[in-house]
Parts: sequence; structure tokens; C-alpha cells
Amino acid sequence: MGISTDHSGRRFLMSAGGMSYAFELAENDLPINLYWGGKLECADDLPGIAELQFYQHRTNRQSENTRQEYPAFHGEFYSECALKAEYSDGVRSTRLRYEGHTRKKENECEILTLSFADALHPLRLRLFYRVWNGLELIDRWSEIENGSDSFIRLENFASACWQLPAPTADWRLTHLAGRWAKEATVTRIPVTQGRFVMESRTGLSGPFAVPFFALDDGTATELAGEVFFGALQWSGNWRICVERGAWDATTVTGGINPFDCRIELKPGETFATPVFSGGWSREGHSGMSRVLHRYQLRHLLPPAIAAKPLPLIFNSWGCINIHVNEANIRHAGTLAAKVGAELFVIDDGWQKALGDWIPDPAKFPDGLGPVIENARSLGMEFGLWVEPESFELKSDLYRAHPDWAMRYPGVEPFERCRADVDRTSVMLNLARGDVADYLYHALHKLVEETGIRYLKLDMNCFFSSPGYGRVPEAEQGRIWIDYVRNLHRIFGRLSADFPELLMENCAGGAGRADLAMTRFFGRMNRSDNQDALDMLKLHYGFTQVNLPRLAGGACHISDLMYDINRRRTPLQFQAFCGMLGSLAIGKDLTRCSEAELDEIRSYGEFYKKIRHITQFGDFYRLASPYEKSRAVFEYVAPDRSEAAVFVLGASQQFGGTLPYFKIPGLAPEKRYEMTIYGGKTEEKRILSGRGAATVGVRVDLFGDFDGRILHFQYQ
Ligand code: DGJ
Repeated sequence: MGISTDHSGRRFLMSAGGMSYAFELAENDLPINLYWGGKLECADDLPGIAELQFYQHRTNRQSENTRQEYPAFHGEFYSECALKAEYSDGVRSTRLRYEGHTRKKENECEILTLSFADALHPLRLRLFYRVWNGLELIDRWSEIENGSDSFIRLENFASACWQLPAPTADWRLTHLAGRWAKEATVTRIPVTQGRFVMESRTGLSGPFAVPFFALDDGTATELAGEVFFGALQWSGNWRICVERGAWDATTVTGGINPFDCRIELKPGETFATPVFSGGWSREGHSGMSRVLHRYQLRHLLPPAIAAKPLPLIFNSWGCINIHVNEANIRHAGTLAAKVGAELFVIDDGWQKALGDWIPDPAKFPDGLGPVIENARSLGMEFGLWVEPESFELKSDLYRAHPDWAMRYPGVEPFERCRADVDRTSVMLNLARGDVADYLYHALHKLVEETGIRYLKLDMNCFFSSPGYGRVPEAEQGRIWIDYVRNLHRIFGRLSADFPELLMENCAGGAGRADLAMTRFFGRMNRSDNQDALDMLKLHYGFTQVNLPRLAGGACHISDLMYDINRRRTPLQFQAFCGMLGSLAIGKDLTRCSEAELDEIRSYGEFYKKIRHITQFGDFYRLASPYEKSRAVFEYVAPDRSEAAVFVLGASQQFGGTLPYFKIPGLAPEKRYEMTIYGGKTEEKRILSGRGAATVGVRVDLFGDFDGRILHFQYQ
């Protein structure tokens, strides 16, 4: 376990859970990757640098250029650079010299730091490897330090480079592309010679792509096969480049997107890149996801949030939209409590204006106190929505600080008109320290004064006219980076101030679905698309990277949200799809019959009965909605005493039956009682864990949007 070196002190072997990773400092001092894959016990098993060269007619020069851990632009290196610097004397290449390394053990990990310096200039580079105990994952990042007394310009500044094993196969790339209402679409393509770039340029990490990659040799399934994967922890512009070179070596390089953002490192300044986590699984794509899910639950989520199940939420957006007021919120509160909601959230519309985070006096003449008290007296916690990164032109904040808008010097800020809520706003420039401080204090005050237990962070625009407004210091482009760092700082501080505060990373629906946000936010808006059929694919994509329990949103049980597809689905199907993550109700309960209210209440009760499995268990995708008109998802409790299997069918045809689904992950020698929910009557069966995994189970579905939940419990 952990990090070891061989007798020469130049060969490093790291083992994280069942994965090993190794590199060696070549004669020319550059770290060359030797291995990434299943666990090795002994450094003798590692291939040598020469063996890993791809061209039969090996030359020294070639070894300098292939499989580098962090290639800097130099000599005949023409591939994607991790580092490209320009010095004040006009030199544009960097010749790294190894200076030494340190190892530091922490509670659940060990960190290796390698130090290098440029041969000609006082630029220092540090490469970090954080190796997690019992988890097939390594976090990598770098620091670039300017030790000179003049500027150093950085054109490339990646977090890490991941070298895939020698090309025994053609790699297949899995990536997550999409857009609003169609987030995280699972996309698979062969890696051919050339470069394939995934990136964001919106200022947010999404929603057109997720900072993630997975590579397999084309044979991995959901349950078996080797998968190499990575996820970048950055909530702004990012870039991941998958490159297959002329000799078939495949390399993944990623970090902050240098687009529009050259960095001028001041004398003495150090630039730290964000973490790029890389992992490995031999249990297919679901195995990959389980590694990422454990990482989030054990190491990223705030501990108090990770320890608690998510509440059953009622959110006003799906039924009252922005037209909230004291009377309709009180009424909705009474009905929400009746169906068993544990948390009542007022979404958009309660505020005086974007920027003025006080209640609209016309809607809440006595403030929020009465509705908060009402919710509490009904046994519910209370939460609020905010969209604090924009301010409306009509807001007091804009009138007081027009210079806080994101804008180019001497140019009016870009105005965003949102027709559905009749609102014109501009972006606040959080890259400015004073603006970020203001926002932190405003949100802190809001949480403290109202005592809310839930804060939903919305963000409905992309960066526009990204400038500081002032006549430049040299680097207007740094706004892309400073903004994100301040955003993290604000929510890191809030999460530390209020450890029990559950925050939702909404961002207009998965607009910032990156792991950096998961350090502060215990819930995410999987999508604004609440169409239950689309949700099957959305959950399939969302869970590739994200812990299933984060899959939130305003209203899984709802009326026709946003009119997307205009499809009507049964309440039960909506509820089952919502229970795959963190269930929320947004239906207009004032228009429900007593029977419908009872029905919704029963789904809430069932959700509470199984959420200790769905929110803390291991997750498997057993049938893909990309292949058939159904999805099967399994959750297994950590001690394997229980499991919940969701069989969700969009439509049945030709009177056929469903196939048997093999249920992995149960204790083979144990006997389970399996209860099938969702049919006309509850059915029960006894079977062993081995039987479930080898013979499998079958259920009958009928017609359209029919689903069953199979609850396994030790007999
Ligand atoms: C977009 C979010 O995704 C929705 O859930 C809702 O909060 C609206 N914004 C409110 O404007």
C-alpha cells in the first residue's frame, strides 16, 4: 500500500487499493510512466523505459519524448504540452531537471511531491501524487513557481498527463456530452490518431461536457473489463485532450482551459493547478463509477452531509413558479407536510431582486418569518433558492455598485434577459476579492438570520464580457480562474460555518457537475428535465461520475415541467425515477385529490424506507436505456444485508417478457427475502445471493411506464 521507491531512488511505485501506478526518472531526469493498472507487489514486474518505446528503431531522443508524466515544451516535443512557458529573455522552452522528492503520510492517503527546476531559468515545478488507501484512485496536480525577478508567461499549465498502457489495443473513449435538459449523454468513440478535445469555455464546467474521461479497450461492459478513467476537479473552463500519437501511444492531458487566459506569473508567484483524479477498475464502467462514488462519499462531501440521508423535499418551482407569496406558500406547506415532506424549499421569486437577497415586501410583507415558522410547526425544515452570481439592473446592489459587473473596460456589461421570469441581469464579477467577500457575507447573513437548513445555488447564465471593468493590469484573462477560486472559497467558507447546511449545486440543471463542487454541495440538480422517460438516460449518464444520491432537482413528482416532450407519465413511475437519487416533489398539491395525496405520501414513505440503501450503498447499472426501452439500476447496502433493484420500463411490446437480470453484489451464502413493489400486489420470494447473481431474477412489466422495485433483505 502507498508509495515506494527502488534502490536507485528513481523508480516510483504507488498502490492505491487494487491499482498500481509507476514511473521512473530517465537518464535525462524526466519522469517517464511505466505502468498504470492492476496491483503489483514488486517493482521487478515493471517494464523498463526502453521496452516501452513504440518505434522499433529506438533512439535516445524518442525516449525523451514519449510517456512523460508532465511534458514541458522543449526540443523535439510536438505533442500536447502540460507546461509551456515563455521567459523574459525570449526563450520559450523548458528543460526540467529533477531536484528531489518528499513523501508525506496523512490519515487516509500518502502524498508524493517531486521537484524540478528549469535548467536555464529560476522556474520551479512541483508534481503531486495523492495516493488513497483502499481506493483505486490517485489525485494529481502541479505547482509552477516563478523564482525570477521578471514575469514568466504560461501558455499551457495542465494539472496532469495520464499515459495509457502500451498500445495492446485500440482504445475506446467514453465521455459525457450534452446541453440543458439533455445533460451527461454517454458517448463512446474509438480513439484514432490525432487529438480529441473535450472542454468548457462557458465559465462554468458544463453543461456541454463533463470534465471526465474513461478509456477501455472496447470490450469493457458495465460489470467487467478494465477501465482507466479520470475526473478534473474544476468548476470553470477546463480542457481534456485525448491524443493518440504516430506510434499509437495514447495520452490524456487535462487541466484549466488556457483559452483566452495566458498567465503572467509575477516574480515570486506560485500557480497551483486543480486536482485531476485518475483511477482504474477491472469491474467495468459500473466498477469505475463505484470508485468515484466512494471517493465522493468518503473524501469529498462535507462529513456531516455525507453522514445523513437526504430529506424528502417539496420545492415550489414546479407548481408556483415565481409567483410565490405568503398565502400560497402557507397553503403549499400544509399539503407538503401532509404528503410527508421533510424539507420545504421556496425556489425563485421570494427575493426582492437578484442581488437584493431580502424578501420581496409585496409578496412577504412580514418577511419570511411566518412561512418559516409555519413550515417548522408542520415538522419540516426550511430552505431557500438563490442565484447570487448575477444582479438585476433594477436591484439596489446594481445601483450602488455598477462597477461590480463583469465587463470590459469602457464597455457596458452584457445584459441577459430571461423572458420566462421577465428579468434582466448582468453577471457579478466574483473574480474581484471585494465582490466575493460581499457575497460571502450576504449569504452568511441570510443563512444565519433565517436559520435555513438548505440553500439552493442556481446559476442561469454563462460568462459574458469577461473583464474586470478596470483598465487592465496585464491579465484580464485571469478572470476565468480567479472567479472559480473565489466561488470555491465562498462556498467552502459557508460549508465550514454551517456544517449541517445542505447546499444544492443547481446551476440551471447540472451546469457545474464537477467534483470540485461536491466538496461543498450535498445535492445537485441532475437536470431540469423531469420527463420520467428521459430521466432514465439522465441517471445513467449522471451516475457515471456522480454519487447517485446527489441526483436532485426541484420536482421529480411534478406536472408537465417546462413542457419538455409533453409526455404524461404515471405518478408511480415519476416517484421511482426520483428515488434513484434524492426525491423531490413539485406537483401542484392543491389540485390533487385525496387519493392522489395518499398515493404521493406512500411513495414518500417508501423512499424513506429504502434511502439508507440508495444513498449509502454500492451502485450498479444493470441494463442500459441506451440499448433497450428500459433501465435497471441496483443499490447494495455497504454490509450487503439489503439491496434495492429498480426495473423501469418505458414500453412493453409484442406481449413479450423481460429477460432475467443477474443481480451482483449480494452475499452469495446468505438467503434473502425479495419483496417486489410496484405491481398490483406485493410479491415475495426467498433466494440466495448466489442464486440472484447466477440465475438472476425476472419481473413482469405491462404497458408503458411500468416499474418495480425489488427490495432484498437478509431472511
Ligand atoms: C433553473 C433551475 O434549474 C430551476 O430548478 C429553478 O430553480 C429555476 N432556475 C428558477 O429560476
